[in-house]
Amino acid sequence: TSTGVQLSLLTPSGHLTIGNYIGALAPMREARGDCYFGVSDLHAMTMPHDRSLLRERTAEFQRLMLAVGLDPVRQVLFRQSAVPEHTGLHYLLECVARVGELGRMIQFKEKGRDNGETRMSLLSYPVLMSADILLYQAAEVPVGQDQSQHVELARDLAQRFNRDYPGQDGPVFTVPVTVNPPVAARLRDLQRPTIKMSKSATNPAGVIYLLDGPDAVRRKIRRAVTDSEPGISYQPDRRPGLANLLELVAACAGRSVTEVADDHDSFGSLKATAADAVIATLEPIQRRYAELAPDQVDAVFAAGAERARSTAGPTLAAARQAIGL
Ligand code: ADP
Ligand code: NA
Repeated sequence: TSTGVQLSLLTPSGHLTIGNYIGALAPMREARGDCYFGVSDLHAMTMPHDRSLLRERTAEFQRLMLAVGLDPVRQVLFRQSAVPEHTGLHYLLECVARVGELGRMIQFKEKGRDNGETRMSLLSYPVLMSADILLYQAAEVPVGQDQSQHVELARDLAQRFNRDYPGQDGPVFTVPVTVNPPVAARLRDLQRPTIKMSKSATNPAGVIYLLDGPDAVRRKIRRAVTDSEPGISYQPDRRPGLANLLELVAACAGRSVTEVADDHDSFGSLKATAADAVIATLEPIQRRYAELAPDQVDAVFAAGAERARSTAGPTLAAARQAIGL
């Protein structure tokens, strides 16, 4: 049975980008139903990390979530580490997870080649992600391709736990399924337009951050990689840089890519339009960001954590009871 729970966590592993806004934060703002939206600070600790940077980024993420217009009345906004049920359930799920199945996770194989410093938390990261999902009894988890294997694990762990340790009133966990999110625009890096724009990119010139000022936005868009063909046409495979700029304008201005393409006949004018559209999108976010006091943000997220605990707490209690604690 679908509970209509929506869960979305953003990992503070860099600064939030306009890609994160278009693909995640803007849809979160429109979401209705039981929404649990958080900052997954624990997930930012799987690789060597700097503690003051982690605190700064977490605070910045929380403040930006309010600045973009997420609604702490309708939606539960919380910091993952402020809800101890996440780590509490993590351990119980480790007791049904297998070392082999974690070692086979594609992301671990990509990032986790043991260099003597590789953290155990990198291996067990998908178990914590399973706890994130299962605590709120989410039935459907919309994730991109890169995370679908992790949701499959959450599904396997829920089924295994339910089978081996049934609760007093039936299965402890809702078994989640992966759903393909509605195709939102997937913005790509301005300098490398065949890869997605990412907060963890190493070259900031290709990435527009939500807190970039107008001058930075204009400079980055002016230097965006295009091609040497004349004219403006939307051909993502042949002309990825140009297509990305058209998608950026379309997403920011709420227009179709073909409409935007028809309106322009040079890279110069398209880039000017793109810069204006991005600046107009970021301006109100940055204004609200400046108005929010850090204490006010902390208070909102502390209240959200209490609400998250009122759902997560009973799930963890049932799991503890079922497993024999
Ligand atoms: P990042 O690569 O910036 O670290 P994540 O992979 O952690 O981002 O994804 C966080 C959320 O932001 C997801 O919902 C993802 O779909 C969305 N997202 C990330 N990058 C983009 C992008 N370039 N375009 C659209 N949505 C994006
Ligand atoms: Na990333």
